[in-house]
Amino acid sequence: MTAKHTVLQLPTDLKRDQLPKHVAVIMDGNGRWAKRQGLPRIMGHRRGVDTLKELLRCCRDWGVQALTAYAFSTENWGRPLEEVEFLMTLFERVLRQELREMMQENVCIKFVGNLGALPRSLQAEIERSMLETQDNQGICFTVATNYGGRQEILRACRAIAIQVQQGLVQPEDIDEGLFERHLYTAGIRDPDLLIRTSGEMRLSNFLLWQMAYSEIYVTDTLWPDFDRQEFHQALAAYQQRERRFGKV
Ligand code: FPP
Repeated sequence: MTAKHTVLQLPTDLKRDQLPKHVAVIMDGNGRWAKRQGLPRIMGHRRGVDTLKELLRCCRDWGVQALTAYAFSTENWGRPLEEVEFLMTLFERVLRQELREMMQENVCIKFVGNLGALPRSLQAEIERSMLETQDNQGICFTVATNYGGRQEILRACRAIAIQVQQGLVQPEDIDEGLFERHLYTAGIRDPDLLIRTSGEMRLSNFLLWQMAYSEIYVTDTLWPDFDRQEFHQALAAYQQRERRFGKV
């Protein structure tokens, strides 16, 4: 997003009342994009930030209430050290640079994942951005960082088990509502639409509980090339779907 931009109009073929309220994205293909350009992989991540900013702007202007992006999985630590360090520095720098604009644009930013294992300076920037934007009433922008869906579920189980052990919760009281309150995403509605770029048909440990009924849209486009028109196409495809939630 730029400091002052004209508001993007919702494309006329999209129905405002049938937009997904929450879109989740797996931003895949940065490395391949860079390789195709003859650039180091990290340049793909750098370009990927611009794509994410443009998507956030589209969501906000078109009326999508929440966007969640998978920035770093618990498995991504296995990448070359140089790339991991680049990503951590990139997250920190982007947060620092964009905070003022997110305030102006009324964005409420949240981070989900095992944040305590991130570099201290990044943790500080995350805390600052969450605290400063917590009362913003505009789009809810969630960044999954050092996030793993299985780990999130296990963490919730452990927390509930301790409460059972202490006699604070009865096993029969454990229902979906109670469970969800123990997830990182407590208070954030489930995604209606998951978009994954670069053609991979996997969830990759992303929001496993939350995406039980999400519509999935996969495009071959690599993340740095996922532009406004591509998002328009994804929303158009979503509006063709019939969501039944297990019913007829
Ligand atoms: C996957 O592509 C991408 C990532 C692991 C990093 C995504 C992060 C960003 C786009 C930066 C977001 C910034 C903020 C502040 C939230 P890949 O490297 O797996 O691509 P490949 O499959 O082609 O190798």
